[in-house]
Amino acid sequence: GKDGYRHYMEKELHEHPVAIGQTLQRMIDPATRRVVLPELPFDPESLPRVSITACGSAFFAGFVGRYWLEALARLPVDIDVASEMRYRNPPLTPGGVGLLISQSGETADTLGTLRSLRAAGQHIMSVLNVEHSTMGRESDVVLGMVAGPEISVASTKAFTAQLTVLAALSVAFARARGLIDAAGEQALVASLLDVPSRATEVFAQGDAIRAMAAIVAEARDVLYLGRGICYPIAQEGALKLKEITYIHAEAYAAGEMKHGPISLIDRSVPIVAICPSTILFDKTVSNLQEARARGGRILAFTDAIGAERLRGIAEVIVVMPDVDPFVAPILYAIPVQVLAYEVALLKGTDVDQPRNLAKSVTVE
Ligand code: F6R
Repeated sequence: GKDGYRHYMEKELHEHPVAIGQTLQRMIDPATRRVVLPELPFDPESLPRVSITACGSAFFAGFVGRYWLEALARLPVDIDVASEMRYRNPPLTPGGVGLLISQSGETADTLGTLRSLRAAGQHIMSVLNVEHSTMGRESDVVLGMVAGPEISVASTKAFTAQLTVLAALSVAFARARGLIDAAGEQALVASLLDVPSRATEVFAQGDAIRAMAAIVAEARDVLYLGRGICYPIAQEGALKLKEITYIHAEAYAAGEMKHGPISLIDRSVPIVAICPSTILFDKTVSNLQEARARGGRILAFTDAIGAERLRGIAEVIVVMPDVDPFVAPILYAIPVQVLAYEVALLKGTDVDQPRNLAKSVTVE
């Protein structure tokens, strides 16, 4: 049942800390503070490339994963939505890894891509919540996200659990490729282990998130902006808003705004910024100033240092706990999803069963 929550989505939002924590328990040896992977059919040291593919929210998790795998493990990464990757026929070196991400393990486009990546000689690794699924059976290696059942059509805790798996995987690959030593690994693991309690603190920001929701609920169009590893979190926020509130939302890499979408900006188009002070912050602030100068109303998710800088620019600020920039995307995904939920409450939409959507899309 819903355990006293109004919707499954609300319950599952509150399960973020547990989903992240359980996933870490599966992947981290508490004694050595090292990431433990299942046995791999390939050597990460000589891996030519990783091809990430998924749909919807799982794709945005994969997009964050690309930043981690490139920056930490220095791996060449290709990423595309499954319905495109499947038919793109990219040149692949046999021995690469096809990395599929799926909550259900049954999504038709992702499964079809799994099969075409296998036919192209790739090792198949999947990040799944339902491990005993078709994708689970057809994978060489399954990395389980331990999120528990997700009932709400809109994905919540599975998203942060996917991010957690991909973060830990990136640390393990960095170590295997000689790019970090044991101390480096322990430091990254420590910042991961810190996430569940920081995630719990996010729920203390309910009033600020509801103040944002009141503005967003009045809008017809909303822009979500982020840079670097927070850009996919902006995309996740825009998707969740579209899905459950039927408000049109678009995500842009903040630096790309001046190349077109800035012409949309006026008082009627709120701008939701995902901008911890630790990630390309000065550049994001100047992008937000450009929007502000054109009458845009800025709603910002940032930390205490970022909040100081954004006073006078942002109309509402959700002050997030301080975390290592490595794990910031995991933490910032949470309030972004809560915002969509709060807007849906104001709009009175069917939160758990949005129109036209199914939990698992088993047709192409
Ligand atoms: C977003 C959402 C969908 C799924 C997508 C993939 O809230 O629920 O976009 O993320 O359909 O589903 P899985 O992860 O089961 O492959």
